[in-house]
Amino acid sequence: MKKNVKDYIRTIVDFPHEGILFRDVTTLFADARGFRMAIDQLLTPYAGTRIDKVAGLEARGFILGGAVAHQLSTGFVPIRKKGKLPGQTISQAYTLEYGEAVVEVHDDAFQPGEKILLVDDLLATGGTAEAGIKLIERLGAEVVGCAFVIDLPELGGRKKLEAMGMDVYALCEFE
Ligand code: PRP
Ligand code: ADE
Repeated sequence: MKKNVKDYIRTIVDFPHEGILFRDVTTLFADARGFRMAIDQLLTPYAGTRIDKVAGLEARGFILGGAVAHQLSTGFVPIRKKGKLPGQTISQAYTLEYGEAVVEVHDDAFQPGEKILLVDDLLATGGTAEAGIKLIERLGAEVVGCAFVIDLPELGGRKKLEAMGMDVYALCEFE
């Protein structure tokens, strides 16, 4: 019987490029006990913290962030890859572990002073989360926590976000 969230995560070798050990959370999401454990654990540090909205990073952050928002009875805001959102957006470019991209959010998705919990499946270089934080802050809202299922500490994302003054929480680490 699997005991920890980490036990449900599958590793795919050489995806999407040679040399990448892809940490695949679909096996966690597909398991009723694993998924509930992940959502419950993502919430534990924020008991008693004011959270007005949950923001999720495309794509796996939508699955986690939606469930977290439901549990907190807050709204959910998707931070999407370029060109996917239908309304007026603001954009932020960033660098990935294996590429470059732009993320966007609707320009009316957050109100000044709102307290936001940012959620994603995995923290690697921190580039995606940093871009998401910048979008939230550009709209005048405040990120009160950044919650991930997986941290890859060797890629430096936690250090990058903590240097920005962020509170970073992850359920497990992989080398
Ligand atoms: C993965 C992951 C994070 C990001 C982390 O998403 O889900 O969002 O990379 O990497 P970083 O810390 O180096 O920025 P990916 O960009 O593969 O997009 P997808 O979820 O749409 O497949
Ligand atoms: N995103 C960036 N690096 C990743 C990895 N090693 N596994 C899964 N998603 C990732």
